[in-house]
Amino acid sequence: MGARSWACVPTLMVATALLLFSFSWSPNLVLTTTTTKMVSTPFLTTLLAVLSPHKHNRVYANEFTSSPPVYPSPPSRGLGWEWAFTQASYFVANLTLEEKAQIVTGTPGPCVGNIGAIPRLGFDGICMQDGPLGIRLATYASAFPAGLTAAASWDRGLIFARGDYLGDEFRRKGSHVLLGPVVGPLGRIAYAGRNWEGFSPDPYLTGEAAAQTIMGIQRNGVQASLKHFIANEQETQRLPTTSRNGTTIESLSSNIDDRTMHELYLWPFANGVRVGVSSIMCSYNRINSSYGCQNSKNLNGLLKTELGFQGYVVSDWGATHAGVDAVNAGLDMDMPGSIGWNANISMFGGNLTRAVINGSLPISRIDDMVQRVMTPYFFLRQQHYPPIDGRSPLLNNGNLPPWRHRFNLGPPDIDVRDGHADLIRELGSAGTVLLKNHNNTLPLHAPRTIGVFGNDAGDLVDGVYFSGGSYDQPYGYEYGTLPVGGGSGAARLPNLITPLEAIKLRAARDGTSVQYLLNNTLITESSLSISRPDGLTYIVPVPEVCLVFLKTYASEGVDRHDLEADWNSNSVVNTVAAYCNNTVVVTHSAGINDMPWANNPNVTAILAAHLPGEQSGNSIVDILYGNVNPSGKLPYTIALNATDYDFARLTNSTRLQETEDPNAWQSDFSEGLLIDYRHFDYYNKSVRFEFGFGLSYTSFELSDLVVQNILPEREITALPAAAPVGPGGNDNLWANLYLVNATVTNLGNVSGACVSQLYLGLPQIPGEQPTPINVLRGFEKTYLRRGESQTVQFWLKRRDLSYWNSTIQNWVIPAGEIIVRAGFSSRDIQMQSIISPIRGRPFAE
Ligand code: NOJ
Repeated sequence: MGARSWACVPTLMVATALLLFSFSWSPNLVLTTTTTKMVSTPFLTTLLAVLSPHKHNRVYANEFTSSPPVYPSPPSRGLGWEWAFTQASYFVANLTLEEKAQIVTGTPGPCVGNIGAIPRLGFDGICMQDGPLGIRLATYASAFPAGLTAAASWDRGLIFARGDYLGDEFRRKGSHVLLGPVVGPLGRIAYAGRNWEGFSPDPYLTGEAAAQTIMGIQRNGVQASLKHFIANEQETQRLPTTSRNGTTIESLSSNIDDRTMHELYLWPFANGVRVGVSSIMCSYNRINSSYGCQNSKNLNGLLKTELGFQGYVVSDWGATHAGVDAVNAGLDMDMPGSIGWNANISMFGGNLTRAVINGSLPISRIDDMVQRVMTPYFFLRQQHYPPIDGRSPLLNNGNLPPWRHRFNLGPPDIDVRDGHADLIRELGSAGTVLLKNHNNTLPLHAPRTIGVFGNDAGDLVDGVYFSGGSYDQPYGYEYGTLPVGGGSGAARLPNLITPLEAIKLRAARDGTSVQYLLNNTLITESSLSISRPDGLTYIVPVPEVCLVFLKTYASEGVDRHDLEADWNSNSVVNTVAAYCNNTVVVTHSAGINDMPWANNPNVTAILAAHLPGEQSGNSIVDILYGNVNPSGKLPYTIALNATDYDFARLTNSTRLQETEDPNAWQSDFSEGLLIDYRHFDYYNKSVRFEFGFGLSYTSFELSDLVVQNILPEREITALPAAAPVGPGGNDNLWANLYLVNATVTNLGNVSGACVSQLYLGLPQIPGEQPTPINVLRGFEKTYLRRGESQTVQFWLKRRDLSYWNSTIQNWVIPAGEIIVRAGFSSRDIQMQSIISPIRGRPFAE
């Protein structure tokens, strides 16, 4: 990748130097650094950003337009899975060439993805099922909170438990592979249709959440397939189309510079590889002009060489555009492979056997592909696996036998939910963020009347399974609450608890009257007039508290058209708030919403409840009534206006829709590292609710920040010492260098959980693109009784302190001062400290 020329930022550098000099800093041999008490928004952040130029004269000069070739595809060595690798190699040695091709090629069968059995070797085949929040095609299985909700909990323990229960359900349904979690999209574009399937536009939070999820899933002997690799940041034109004149118009190309690739989009994949993810699904889009499933730089280079990934790369469904070329570029398995029992239209299958026979593909590469598929299979002991739920083939598009292969089908409709509803309810509450709570409106204390408004409060009238959306129908169904999104990331709802029914049940205990109006059109058209002469009003008397439920649908295959919650929601809020001066707004949303009504004085409280899954009503009632003290934090920024997100826009236009140019669809990630809060902080833009923000029914204090170099006798080098690459890359990148301690105290009268957050401010790198002012590098959720204090600890790893230097192709700890900030959100910094791990020139270039 060519060198990028970013305009220098002299003012910023000088200001940084001056300001930082005014703080006392300590050499890396000193254990404790000076800490400074911060009041609220970091002064330094603001001042630096004010001084920074708001425009960069960036020169891209073709740097985005190609992806360098990286060959050959590195063979796996089973690192971390040694005994299973040996077992897999015996297995591979016993296979015929046809059987090898079979193991890397999907086939029709009972599941969403199927690898056929080889009975003579006791191999029952592999069943893959969607998706990230539950078994999409299943009966009697749970619908868990979405990834977005899990991220909003900032609770590693709950996120792990979610993965664990998901894994348990997949295993008992006989599915060997869970097609998730999702870390691509990361969430670069606020409008992207699948952001909710993943976690957060912050790569650190996403990486931690993905790692916990994978460990939870795989603990059950189920493979996780981390997806979609990589830069799958919008749905529009994710697949090639055909123009009016019959030209194939290629998928969108996500064009990314090397540093941004490493520090944002590749970062969470590294976490997944580090914890031993079995599989990675390559994406539909192109990256720097080369398709995701045949991009040798990304698959052979980044994934299999740099990150040392030992498992297999599976194509997204239909994302394979070549046979031998894709295999050589690093693709290991084609899905869904051949379609129909007689046809063999896969680019793999028979095409691979022919390629080996005619010498165009070395047998060693096929052996490695099979080895990569079978090593995690043996490692997770999948040769002894429950049968596939007998209902699966019927639900998989009626894909009934006879298939080419025999599958191990068991009885249908196995109930795998157990007590998982309790965790779903708990995580649904934990992922709900209290954004406003004027005059302690919440929690509710036995109000005499509650009014419930909005089409998100009540029951579904269009069924309990969300198949997807389309460009013309981006808002999904009109009536009924939104517990999950649509498409392959959805799950059939086994027993949905709606907000309205949970509120009614809870309210009955206090004798509260619950009146409701769920028709948004009626709400806005009637204006809820209480002064109609005929006295026929919808809601009488004006409720003590009005709960307005809004929803924002999103689905695979289509991006959102706007950031307003759906179904005329702004007007619904304004109408209710004009009538009721104690209006509480609850959003069930697949992502970011703008909230132009947030400062309306009659809107006294706001809760972002995300996508809570099947226990939706119970989760929100727990918060509304204070059974659970809210502790969720925003895993993204809520800006003042929708246009504030224009730094990364969807690529789409009438010109593109009508193009005859096969390569017309290009998306330059020209904002570089500055997405979400990194953008707003760098440009010092006011936001409505910042990343990491969330209120509680109590208040917390953070004190006694101590930053400790854990190996003070050893000099910290700018570059990691060379080490053999294992899963996750150079092992030294994962070494802890600093330990940060702080004390957190519950100052209020009720117990609750708080999320202490650690941010780092790395220096600007001369001649480089802007470095974000603040990046999340630690978080800890602590449950505290009233008055209680506890110590929180954050471990800073070498990777956390480094930036990616694309010239030397390595992670480098920059020379100079690094600001360590601890607080309760990205803009609520309570304490800070400065460290200088590297003195002088970092390395000889
Ligand atoms: C396409 C989706 O992009 C992917 O996430 C899913 O796993 C497959 N379809 C299989 O349904």
